[in-house]
Amino acid sequence: MTLSGKHVLLVIGGGIAAYKALDLIRRLRERGAAVRCVMTEAAQQFITPLSVGALSADHVFTDLFDRQAEHDVGHIRLSREADLIVVAPATADLMAKLANGLANDLASAVLLATNKPVLMAPAMNPRMWTHPATRRNRVTLEADGVRFAGPGKGEMAESGEAGDGRMVEPLEIVAAVETLLDAGAKPLAGKKVIVTSGPTHEPIDPVRYLANRSSGKQGHAIATALARLGADVRLVSGPVAIPDPAGVDTIHVERAQDMREAVEQFLPADAAVFVAAVADWRMADSAGEKIKKIAGKGPPLLQMVENPDILATVGHHEKRPRLVIGFAAETQNLVANAEAKLKKKGADIIVANDVSHDSGIGAGGVMGGERNRVRIVSHKGIEEWPEMSKDEVAARLASLIAERLGG
Ligand SMILES: Cc1cc2nc3c(=O)[nH]c(=O)nc-3n(C[C@H](O)[C@H](O)[C@H](O)COP(=O)(O)O)c2cc1C
Repeated sequence: MTLSGKHVLLVIGGGIAAYKALDLIRRLRERGAAVRCVMTEAAQQFITPLSVGALSADHVFTDLFDRQAEHDVGHIRLSREADLIVVAPATADLMAKLANGLANDLASAVLLATNKPVLMAPAMNPRMWTHPATRRNRVTLEADGVRFAGPGKGEMAESGEAGDGRMVEPLEIVAAVETLLDAGAKPLAGKKVIVTSGPTHEPIDPVRYLANRSSGKQGHAIATALARLGADVRLVSGPVAIPDPAGVDTIHVERAQDMREAVEQFLPADAAVFVAAVADWRMADSAGEKIKKIAGKGPPLLQMVENPDILATVGHHEKRPRLVIGFAAETQNLVANAEAKLKKKGADIIVANDVSHDSGIGAGGVMGGERNRVRIVSHKGIEEWPEMSKDEVAARLASLIAERLGG
């Protein structure tokens, strides 16, 4: 009963996905939450207040100018008595209204009047979702502190249409609610975990560097998932373009040497997860001044030396964490390379991901993309996980870490 004693106000917008709001009510109540619902006029074209009321076991609010309700609760109290407001499905229209401060019906008035966190689960046609107006509204809403769950990719109700805009499944919304209300189980409370993420930049001269395509998305997602399970997370991040995860102590470094130092400073720890794509080599001598192009002299010869192997260093460290996990990005012989790494580096688990172009993972590939398909290689054998979002990989890995640490 992770949500027991919590009050959720569910605003149901007018989209095809409104039927999923019924399951969402059930899932929230199963976890102990009291759910009160507001339906827009359009929502009532898709599902009835009768079924919403039956599932929520409460009066369903639909009108701004409802004498009975105004007297009884009113839109201000309705918005204040909840611990959290969830908008599911969040239509393009509701997003636009809140982004612009409109309040001409009960749903939008409640959203404007609230002093509580708001979580939106958008659901709309991919063209509506990618329209510049909706994109602007999302940026505005995020800047105003509204949180989003999804949308995901998939087939639309309209035949033949697919893309971004599908509402995430009710259980994913429930997980986001638990995170926002800080209500999930905390099997890693009191455990210290180090995570590395992103690429490293190895300077060639003051303006140039060697790097790789790592975005930090997978490592940051793992840090977030571990923090969600209550771990005290220290994230050592290379240069990335994504924000620091909430609730995680993040330190920013540039070179592999800095990353190793930062990691060692954080020891002892209960577990360490090395997700960063650390450069194998750096310049033997990085130039103090910008290397000039001199006519007739030809290109400079870049002399490189090996970088410290952070995984192996920690895997054989006197303060070795109980659980050491490394990521192996490979383009060939995935499992054989991962098994070799497991032994050589003193790791307990190698998460092997195929980053080759033909890994079958669409737009962006694994590096820089949103999805991942991994194999968990450990002394216990090989476990193959299906393709999933990086957030899902992170959540599953965090649960595995909790299990291994006996949480
Ligand atoms: C069959 C049908 C399906 C619709 N599905 C969606 C949808 O999934 N997402 C969306 O943003 N709007 C959808 N719309 C449009 C909204 O219903 C419309 O913009 C409405 O004014 C939204 O009102 P609300 O935001 O007050 O709920 C749909 C309309 C129809 C007729």
